[in-house]
Amino acid sequence: MRYLLGIDVSTTGAKALIMDPSGNVVAIATTEYPLSTPRPLWAEQSPQDWWDGACSSIRAALHQAGLTGEDVQAVGLTGQMHGLVMLDAAGSVLRPAILWNDQRTERQCGEILEKCGGVDNLVAMTGNAVLPGFTAPKILWVQENEPEVYARVAHILLPKDYVRFCMTGEHATEVSDASGTSLLDVARRRWSERMLDALSIPREWMPQCTESQEISGRITREAALRCGLKTGTPVAGGAGDQAAQAIGSGVIQPGIISVTCGTSGVVFAFMDTFAAETHGRLHAFCHAVPGAWHLMGVMLSAGGSLRWLRDCLGEPERTTARNRGEDPYDLLTREAANAPPGCDGLVFLPYLTGERTPHPDPRARGAFVGLTVRHNKEHLIRAVLEGVSFGLRDSLELIRNLGVPIEQVRASGGGARSSLWRQIQADVFGTELVRVNVTEGAAYGAALLAGVGAGIFSSVPDAVEQTVTVIDRVAPDPVNIERYRKLYGVFQSLYPALRPGFHALADYQ
Ligand code: XUL
Repeated sequence: MRYLLGIDVSTTGAKALIMDPSGNVVAIATTEYPLSTPRPLWAEQSPQDWWDGACSSIRAALHQAGLTGEDVQAVGLTGQMHGLVMLDAAGSVLRPAILWNDQRTERQCGEILEKCGGVDNLVAMTGNAVLPGFTAPKILWVQENEPEVYARVAHILLPKDYVRFCMTGEHATEVSDASGTSLLDVARRRWSERMLDALSIPREWMPQCTESQEISGRITREAALRCGLKTGTPVAGGAGDQAAQAIGSGVIQPGIISVTCGTSGVVFAFMDTFAAETHGRLHAFCHAVPGAWHLMGVMLSAGGSLRWLRDCLGEPERTTARNRGEDPYDLLTREAANAPPGCDGLVFLPYLTGERTPHPDPRARGAFVGLTVRHNKEHLIRAVLEGVSFGLRDSLELIRNLGVPIEQVRASGGGARSSLWRQIQADVFGTELVRVNVTEGAAYGAALLAGVGAGIFSSVPDAVEQTVTVIDRVAPDPVNIERYRKLYGVFQSLYPALRPGFHALADYQ
């Protein structure tokens, strides 16, 4: 049989997923690794841990499925985006990787704006504003703070592409992940010579950049011995984690949007022509489908807000759930159903860890606004579910304002498990909300891309059509749409009104 392997180099661990050619998952294995925060705002990982983790997970998944490396026809890679890996000319890692959630480079972002002549020029060159999490400002940070490291740099790679380097010896990436570097001309799907020149980054440092389904290398003999795959197995470009997740959710045509509610919340919209959001509040990146792009809004605390509530107020539910063998989130959302839509005038702002879209503000803060003595715990829980949904709607509105159609929202992640939360999202968004059969996330999308590269599927849309199907649908309730439309207006007015207070309070921390 011709099996496909998807590898996800995520922030928490390396996942290996094996699927048969019909898209059935036959094994999944994950190996966790640590994240270090040597200073406040810093987030680093060891690239060696990613490779070691990938090797353990591949071996474990092959074992689980009763397969050998001979059975794997192709490999697809995905992973955390934006991370900076620096190699010397011999291929040795020069320093720990600086990750997507590292916030040390605010100053370098300012310098990039200056070197490029302002945000309009930057958006014209790369399609996006620059954020501290992106790759280019990290390169400048190393240049300024670790000149001895910078002097030895010969190659720059993204996290999943370091694993590709270990597997194949190739320095390669693909367009979807490269979009988050601030160095790609996203509209033209190639490195931006103007941007590289403006930042004095040598062109030779940059990996070859392919489309996502293209084969960019083959497993070397040395790598085969380490990970258990067969020498010569092709490795496809793959995709950044969000684009790969969207492939697994079937977001491959205009009108289909995905909302993934994990710790963070990601709103992802397909585009068949390139459009940038002029203020750079949405990311405009290449999709893993040739000739397509996507818009993306990222909310930092989506499921994270509900987890916070569970940890602070959910001790009784945690105890009951433990005794009954249930999930505490199921008990909490059941209680929330007793509060009415609109929570009798209580609104939650979900900025518990600052925010990215639509308010790029690390000093934004969470809030319950409108509390009265009539509100109880059920209201608090429901307000969190509604507030997160309003925050996700902010991204949808930015997408809609660019003229991108929104016909169907595909929900995934932990937040899609609750039927109440799905109904609230459908009512707040005013659209049909569906779920698909695929729940394994980015690794699944990466395996599909490998299947396209290996010729098992004729194209990315063909791979999706053959494997991804809608399993349930929620229609919005017209009465609640109207209720939430009014309350959304109130929600939108609160961040600007509370911003000075949030910033003053942030100084107390
Ligand atoms: C995308 C982003 C995250 C990381 C980590 O822009 O920052 O999705 O890729 O998952």
